[in-house]
Amino acid sequence: MKQQADSSNRRSDAPIFLIGFMGAGKTTVGRALARQLEYDFIDLDELIAARVGKSVQRIFEELGEAEFRRLEREAIRSCDRLTRAVVALGGGAYGSEENRVSLREIGRTLWLDCPLEICLRRVSGDKSRPLLGDQDAMRELLERRRGAYAEADYVVQTGERAPEQLAIEIAELLDK
Ligand code: S3P
Repeated sequence: MKQQADSSNRRSDAPIFLIGFMGAGKTTVGRALARQLEYDFIDLDELIAARVGKSVQRIFEELGEAEFRRLEREAIRSCDRLTRAVVALGGGAYGSEENRVSLREIGRTLWLDCPLEICLRRVSGDKSRPLLGDQDAMRELLERRRGAYAEADYVVQTGERAPEQLAIEIAELLDK
């Protein structure tokens, strides 16, 4: 675990964004962290789906990935009104430079760095994830995104640790 950047200029009640690959545990760890800190929890994909009235899978199928990414950018920008919230982002959200700039301005970002094998075990066969491909495709996608993920303010190597344990460690790391 390490702190990568000086984010001390951001308000102490600013939102905490969890980033990382599909299956890294952003939602489960995010919920545990929100409970631990007594913060609200928001899953950005659920927020997008609720706004559009379609699941993420249907947005991809019917409107296309470019439209999903536009909705994602809009949803991220709307987070600037949040305080005391943990927000789990979709795995591709931090790949965009524009989103990284917005997120840096709004709050603090933490990369859940989870081994690919563990991610794949968790998500394999999940039909609700439109970008899920075979092992080689997933490895390539993760490698393409790794440099962007590494720009997060904080990084935590999750290993197989339980969400509650990770939440305690993250709270300490964030000085909460
Ligand atoms: C995506 C990951 C998904 C979801 C969408 C695109 C990605 O979220 O945002 O299917 O590009 O990696 P999860 O990381 O929660 O699976």
